[in-house]
Amino acid sequence: MSKISVISIALFLLLTAKLPAQSSSSFDARADALLAKMTLEEKIGQLNQYSSPQELTGPQEKKNNILADIQAGKVGSMLNVRGVDQTTLYQKAAMESRLHIPLLFGLDVIHGYHTTFPIPLAEASSWDMEAIEAASRVAATEASASGIHWTFAPMVDIARDPRWGRVMEGAGEDPYLGSQIAKARVLGFQGKGLGSTDAVMACVKHFAGYGAAIGGRDYNSVDMSRNTLWNIYLPPFKAALDAGAATFMNAFNTLNGIPATGNKYLLRDILKGQWKFDGFVVSDWGSIGEMTAHGYAEDQADAAKVAIAAGTDMDMESHSYIDHLKALVESGQIKEGLINDAVKRILIKKFQMGLFEDPYRFSDKDREKRAISDPAALVLARSVAAKSIVLLKNEHHLLPLSSHEKTIALIGPLVKTGREMKGAWSIGWGKEEHVVSLYEGMQKQAGHTRLLYAKGCEVNDTSRAGFGEAIEVAKQSDIIVMAVGENAGMSGEARSRSNIHIPGVQEALIKAIQATGKPVVVLLMSGRPLLFNWTADHVPAILCTWFLGSEAGNAIADVLYGKYNPSGKLTMTFPRTEGQIPIYYNYLNTGRPAPDGPLPSFRSGYFDLEKSPRYAFGYGLSYTTFEYRDLQISKKNITAEDSLTVSFTLKNTGARDGAEVAQLYLRDLVAKPVRPVKELKDFKKIFLKAGESQTVIFKIGKDKLSFYDKDLNRVEQPGKFELMIGGASDEIRLRGYFDLH
Ligand code: NOJ
Repeated sequence: MSKISVISIALFLLLTAKLPAQSSSSFDARADALLAKMTLEEKIGQLNQYSSPQELTGPQEKKNNILADIQAGKVGSMLNVRGVDQTTLYQKAAMESRLHIPLLFGLDVIHGYHTTFPIPLAEASSWDMEAIEAASRVAATEASASGIHWTFAPMVDIARDPRWGRVMEGAGEDPYLGSQIAKARVLGFQGKGLGSTDAVMACVKHFAGYGAAIGGRDYNSVDMSRNTLWNIYLPPFKAALDAGAATFMNAFNTLNGIPATGNKYLLRDILKGQWKFDGFVVSDWGSIGEMTAHGYAEDQADAAKVAIAAGTDMDMESHSYIDHLKALVESGQIKEGLINDAVKRILIKKFQMGLFEDPYRFSDKDREKRAISDPAALVLARSVAAKSIVLLKNEHHLLPLSSHEKTIALIGPLVKTGREMKGAWSIGWGKEEHVVSLYEGMQKQAGHTRLLYAKGCEVNDTSRAGFGEAIEVAKQSDIIVMAVGENAGMSGEARSRSNIHIPGVQEALIKAIQATGKPVVVLLMSGRPLLFNWTADHVPAILCTWFLGSEAGNAIADVLYGKYNPSGKLTMTFPRTEGQIPIYYNYLNTGRPAPDGPLPSFRSGYFDLEKSPRYAFGYGLSYTTFEYRDLQISKKNITAEDSLTVSFTLKNTGARDGAEVAQLYLRDLVAKPVRPVKELKDFKKIFLKAGESQTVIFKIGKDKLSFYDKDLNRVEQPGKFELMIGGASDEIRLRGYFDLH
């Protein structure tokens, strides 16, 4: 670690305050005592959350006189208020209310605050839990110094449909990896725990099923078996909860006909019942009111009644609670006990955050200033960004670039833009001036190499007017690096696409440049898996560089020049066409499975396309190569109380140092109900010097063998298991079997 990082981390540790320890029963008693003093109106006020009128992350249909409402005790929390000045302004109003109950300030700190980290889908591709936790830690440190108490992250929705724009905000398609990442993010955000001024409360979202929107259309309905819900979609939520997540957000969608916001099964039976979650649940933006549009509630009053009964504690911006709960209680339609429970959950969090001791403790000008200018954050952002890059193709070792190249052409609409590198969820709040574009990153490392540039075309436009200039520039160069893909705003909330090809005429530009005969490297920048079959077939080197945040250009240059050997692996399947969607590696075999390649008759596949994806889950190359050998399974027969170890040798067989993500998959060969053809159960990211080997060990016990059966009991069923180890879900290098008795 550099000296600067050590000093700044030490400074943060010194200057972030921790409250004297208080037991959970004391918070409970304090909340009860306060509750006893509150009028019904004041209680309902605690359940009401408004957005700052200056910054919106959803439609604003109603205008409020917010300061007066806060002074009257009608608001418990705000979102989109940020910065010491703004948070202080609103908190002062809360201190003028009768009971001086402080506000909670929430914000979507999704992939960084001042310092922008890679979008979550990119960061997930690092398979590096320490890096992910560290990035969330920095985000929390920066946001909390700006008066923020609470981030609406992590989004842990499993995503199997790249048309859905919000795949950028999650960890991809796998429940096990998604659970590890959920845990890392919660630990990072919440740091030493609620009460330290550099910790923000996590909000796990969107509970539940939101990622399975039919057709990939955002906000769309979800229809899903309980088998899939419990085995695929719920595990990351449970992992986040086990990691101590303070709050949950529910979702816009209906799940099997019932809106998640009014879904008692999800909120009361599972989350607050079976899982014993004692934090609070916030609705999504306006989602309580939207139950009328779903056709589930008659009007706003009915929606409020359904939501509070189901277990939604706080109303984000639908105004249904503040407008209707009082009358519902007074007319006996809602018991005040329901309101008390919701209020108490919220008050306890405010006590835990130390806001009753000092409502301004997160709003500290000095700390805010320091948080903006911490150089260690950028060092981390650069390294996380480099780790997030996935090398998809590298024929004849075209990469890394060598020092012999005298002229490099940088071509494409995304070469010179820093802003787009920030990705969808930070356009509003990252430091613009710190975003390094590809061009700037390359300039810093190019040395004596001449860099030429041509834009070629826009991201999403039909004009080919710039092609001629780009071809001329390409002809003058030894190698061409092309930056193509989506604009940041093409993924994220409400950014579903029906066509996930590289937009506009960019692939035509790639063809034109490839036709010059010069070697071409394509950098794909996007918030989702894209389609680019021609490029995949013809261009010799392709890197998936997503949206990498503040240090994008530096990190990409690090990888292009070989300072960092790419180690990322895809966490979402890349299809061959939209027709294959939904496509994921952990599918069920069917009674008529088809082999890869041409489809034999009467098999489950497409007669006009092979069924395998373009790039599979877990896939990603390195500048070096790895050998897997000597599989040893400690026992061939185990019982459920037992465990076994699997070991093998991993060797770096290439000429460069590098890291490999060794992946362990299991298949439960006969089970009721049937289990997927493969399930990720463990992984290790291992750095090996050129020529070096290491013995890698995985332990397999009950947790890796069990699943939810038809009655939703977690069981392990006796029988044979197939064990697969490799560098991708479709590159299994070692295989073995064992029996569970
Ligand atoms: C709607 C989004 O679905 C949710 O994820 C976000 O946290 C809220 N808006 C607040 O911005």
